[in-house]
Amino acid sequence: MFRTLRSRLLLTYLLVSSLVLILVGVGLMLSLVRGPLGSRLVYLRLHELADRITEDAALRLIDLEPARLQPLTERMNTRYGVRVLVVDIRDGLIADSQRNSAPLSTLSPRSAGSESVEGEFEDSSGETWRFVSIQLNPSRTLLLAAQKPALRVIIFLGSELLQPLARIGILALITSIVLAWLVSLSVVRPLKSMNAAMRKIAGGRFDKRLPLQGSAEMKEAAQAFNDMVERVAASQQMERDFVANVSHELKTPLTSIQGYALAILDGTAGDEKARIKAATVINTEAQRLHRLVLDLLDLARMDSGQIKFERSPVEPGILLTNITDKFQIKADEKGVVLEKHLALLPVIVGDGDRLAQVFTNLIDNALKYAPDNSHISVSAQVEQAQITVKIRDFGPGIPEKDLSRIFERFYQVDKSRARGKADGSGLGLAISKEIIEAHNGQLFVESTPGEGSCFTVCLPIIQPGDQTLNRPRKKV
Ligand SMILES: Nc1ncnc2c1ncn2[C@@H]1O[C@H](COP(=O)(O)OP(=O)(O)O)[C@@H](O)[C@H]1O
Ligand SMILES: [Mg+2]
Repeated sequence: MFRTLRSRLLLTYLLVSSLVLILVGVGLMLSLVRGPLGSRLVYLRLHELADRITEDAALRLIDLEPARLQPLTERMNTRYGVRVLVVDIRDGLIADSQRNSAPLSTLSPRSAGSESVEGEFEDSSGETWRFVSIQLNPSRTLLLAAQKPALRVIIFLGSELLQPLARIGILALITSIVLAWLVSLSVVRPLKSMNAAMRKIAGGRFDKRLPLQGSAEMKEAAQAFNDMVERVAASQQMERDFVANVSHELKTPLTSIQGYALAILDGTAGDEKARIKAATVINTEAQRLHRLVLDLLDLARMDSGQIKFERSPVEPGILLTNITDKFQIKADEKGVVLEKHLALLPVIVGDGDRLAQVFTNLIDNALKYAPDNSHISVSAQVEQAQITVKIRDFGPGIPEKDLSRIFERFYQVDKSRARGKADGSGLGLAISKEIIEAHNGQLFVESTPGEGSCFTVCLPIIQPGDQTLNRPRKKV
């Protein structure tokens, strides 16, 4: 019951319109009973009675003595259904058909002289009476008083009002149904088409998008859904690319391992020298496979949040010095000068091995791409609440269009060129970025093609006790 939007709308409209009608009805009744309209009706009736009384018996009251006046007023009360009082200019109230509730105020009709005058008084129980007075003779005044609009009047007027109210009610009912139908149409129709489109998308049609239609909220919802689809599609694409890349990266070394192993087996690598060469290639390629698999495992574990980063004090100065020292022989071979500009650095908190992995990869890249006899600078300084490490080379640089992509998994600027460098798989920077971001730091690159590249690592100087590093990171 009332589960569809349409029936709910209808219900609301009906409730609202009947509530309004009831309020209007009650308000009208109340104003009849309490308000000026009610007292106006009382006066009208009293005036009408006053006219009739003046025309008949009332005139006989003029000279009656008070003792006989009283029963007369009581009879008139029964006949006309109003309270009848007689006021004498000297003796005050001399007869009252309802003596049990005596008037509190002195009853002096405001303008003696004129035919009939209206007024109000309060009786001993606090009820308000409305009266119309008739000047009987210069000293006596007859008052006709009534309390409220008579019930008859209210019922009569009420039934008069009820009919138009009922008609308005029916009109409101019809309008409600039409409005509910129209509004629900404007909401339900786009919702339905949205639903249909969503089902298609959920079924795997990631090329489909929801149409932006309906109310502003609907458009917003559709837009949000579309954004989500886009991300899901992108992540699916990434997954596919990832698998393709992994297979490709595995295939190349496996092919050469197989080729050289075969050469040993079938005797193509006949002499000792050829066999040693084949075995060496097999060994290098196996090592490369090993590194690749380790990198992939690393990434997978970082993705699933399985890796807990150590939180121990790390001395960045010592860390950087050790790593550059390790590259010294390789640099000497190329005639490259490794320059260090390390300011006095504070101890930071983090995972030393993982940070070493990042700087190793960055320096390894720089050395890989630096031309012979050039130089590489490794500098570090403290800036605000972080330390900034820059690794700069004067190699070929990275083209603008690749800059934003080199942190993607397997991305290599020039596949053939990188492949020539033998050991690259394009995972190093992706892993480095993960590590730095897990340290709440930043890793970015600036590069001018032909002039060189500069990789910057910013690491916050973390307060001991800060728990941020241990938070498992979820990725979309
Ligand atoms: N210092 C550099 N100079 C020029 N290109 C670089 C430099 N460092 C990285 N790159 C580019 O970014 C790509 C990704 O680097 P990386 O993730 O370390 O993978 P890999 O070193 O295995 O190729 C490299 O293949 C290379 O094209
Ligand atoms: Mg690398």
